[in-house]
Amino acid sequence: MTRLAGKTALITGAARGIGLAFAKAYVAEGARVAIGDIDITRARAAAAELGDAAIAVEMDVTRQDSIDAAVAATVDQLGRIDILINNAAIFTAAPIVEIERADFARTFDINVAGALFTMQAVARHMIARGGGGKIINMASQAGRRGEPLVAVYCATKAAIISLTQSAGLNLIEHGINVNAIAPGVVDGEHWDGVDAFFAKYENKAPGQKKTEVGAAVPYGRMGTADDLTGMAVFLASADADYIVAQCYNVDGGQWMS
Ligand SMILES: NC(=O)c1ccc[n+]([C@@H]2O[C@H](COP(=O)([O-])OP(=O)(O)OC[C@H]3O[C@@H](n4cnc5c(N)ncnc54)[C@H](O)[C@@H]3O)[C@@H](O)[C@H]2O)c1
Repeated sequence: MTRLAGKTALITGAARGIGLAFAKAYVAEGARVAIGDIDITRARAAAAELGDAAIAVEMDVTRQDSIDAAVAATVDQLGRIDILINNAAIFTAAPIVEIERADFARTFDINVAGALFTMQAVARHMIARGGGGKIINMASQAGRRGEPLVAVYCATKAAIISLTQSAGLNLIEHGINVNAIAPGVVDGEHWDGVDAFFAKYENKAPGQKKTEVGAAVPYGRMGTADDLTGMAVFLASADADYIVAQCYNVDGGQWMS
């Protein structure tokens, strides 16, 4: 299919996991993509796998100079940016009494400030060239409510939902649609890290938390990155032109349950 024919996208944190699945899906729909990631070695390998339609761009979303350079490199090599996916994020967990300021600051710096200032840099480009664009922010079911051991990560994803609302309302006058996706539990390297936190704090065997959360999803299993690509393609397409400042659950029914 070619629902994104002729479009160009910058996807942050796309060297692996959900971001990489988005990059593959966008290329399959006719787009060219910039795989932005702090792990440039893996980003290059991912881009090579995707062929001529993909480039790798080194990007640390905590550094403004790096964001600006990545946006400039993408515009330089792909001509323009039609679609941004703010996907880069890290997970952290700790009981309230053990949260450390440095971990709080780093998680907010990547998950929230990184998304906001990448959105700002790309929105400036979109406004300057005219013609609008699509921005998709990766939220989470974790941003819908707090969890006892996940205060900081949950708060970053709640912030993403809020920023999506404000930016969506602010940028639509330029024809820029800002929306978000809230996945549930998605299998992959990210969740291997989540599982390790729960093994530590809930005294579980490695892999046990994963099995439990998968069994609790109404659909009957954990999500895969590919379960999310349909929504990411839809929100980037002209079919979503009238959708503003929304956050969609794609979670196998987890949030509803
Ligand atoms: N996996 C899940 O269960 C799940 C659930 C809900 C939401 N999400 C969200 O979906 C998105 C993707 O998740 P994932 O599972 O693919 O995660 P992941 O950990 O597999 O991938 C994250 C990517 O971000 C990159 N990254 C980290 N710090 C960076 C920085 N400072 N600058 C640029 N890139 C950086 C990493 O190198 C990595 O390639 C995240 O926003 C995550 O919070 C994931």
